[in-house]
Amino acid sequence: HNDQEIIVHDEEVEQLKQGLPKTMFLNKIELEKYQGFWYSFNTNMLKSILMFQRHFQARDTDLIIASFPKTGTTWLKSILYSVVNRFKHPIKQSPLFSNHPHELVCCLEYDIYRDAFEYPRPHHLNELPSPRLFHTHFPYMTLPESIKVSGCRILYITRNPLDTLVSMMYFAMKPIKELVGEDVELPSIEDYFEDFCEGKFINGPFFEHVIEYWKQSLEQPKKVLFLKYEDLKKDPILHLKRVGEFVGMPFTESEEREGVIKEIIEFCSINNLKELEGNKSGVINKIYDKKSYFRKGEVGDWTNHNITPAMVEKMKKLMQEKLEGTGLSF
Ligand code: A3P
Repeated sequence: HNDQEIIVHDEEVEQLKQGLPKTMFLNKIELEKYQGFWYSFNTNMLKSILMFQRHFQARDTDLIIASFPKTGTTWLKSILYSVVNRFKHPIKQSPLFSNHPHELVCCLEYDIYRDAFEYPRPHHLNELPSPRLFHTHFPYMTLPESIKVSGCRILYITRNPLDTLVSMMYFAMKPIKELVGEDVELPSIEDYFEDFCEGKFINGPFFEHVIEYWKQSLEQPKKVLFLKYEDLKKDPILHLKRVGEFVGMPFTESEEREGVIKEIIEFCSINNLKELEGNKSGVINKIYDKKSYFRKGEVGDWTNHNITPAMVEKMKKLMQEKLEGTGLSF
């Protein structure tokens, strides 16, 4: 690919956009459905999706984190970065001291390709040393072909859906105010819950997103590693070892004895990360406060919110229906 050739014409984007199903998320944000999943296209997102799909050339050595929003992406970015770079940058000199995890592991559709039409230079991708670390919120089916057919590997993280939607509720407060106005009445937890259950969520439907990657991880275990936020919390050592093995950099016994794994886990803990200079101030993608990616970081925070027994029951039923026969559970 010649980098100068990744032109996606605005007319094409407009035409495509007109044919897409639309809905309102939280009665406030317009979403459009592309290849079965919802996106907010008010920011030229469709154009960057097309660019990413047509332009990106995966290398066999690429490592790509994939996730539904608010499921532990930032945490996994810090872990993957630390594991892969542990010889080049021992923790004590980690670039994570001064850079946000999202700056070190960029999102392909949000950072790299959306910037590409403001600063048309995604060719810097070709200059990055291997292994390149990237991230995407895309569902598996929307990924560029080269990611699917190359030897590159995908690390998927997911999380209990109720914690995911609670996390989104906090994260979305500021963007909604910026989008709709400071005095907007913020959506309630019921609003998030109802839309979530209907699959109307940015990058949703949630269960379809998770199931696609889950199936790929069963069919192609060397290609897709499937992680759960709750498992990482419960047994971080085990899952860090899985990450190390999956990316072809297993921890040696002596590293384990010397406490390298534990050091990474402690460094990547939310309480440590949120205090680092690189994460305290500033914004990502012009609107998201860097610190808003670190809130509570707990399992089961949904129980501290107004989620009624009827809502829990509804979610249980939905999960049963969606996950039946997949072998996956939350
Ligand atoms: P909460 O809002 O429940 O606290 P994402 O990174 O995918 O946007 O997900 C954000 C969620 O992960 C937030 O959840 C955030 O607090 C939590 N998180 C961020 N860094 C973390 C870390 N190092 N360890 C555990 N959880 C973390």
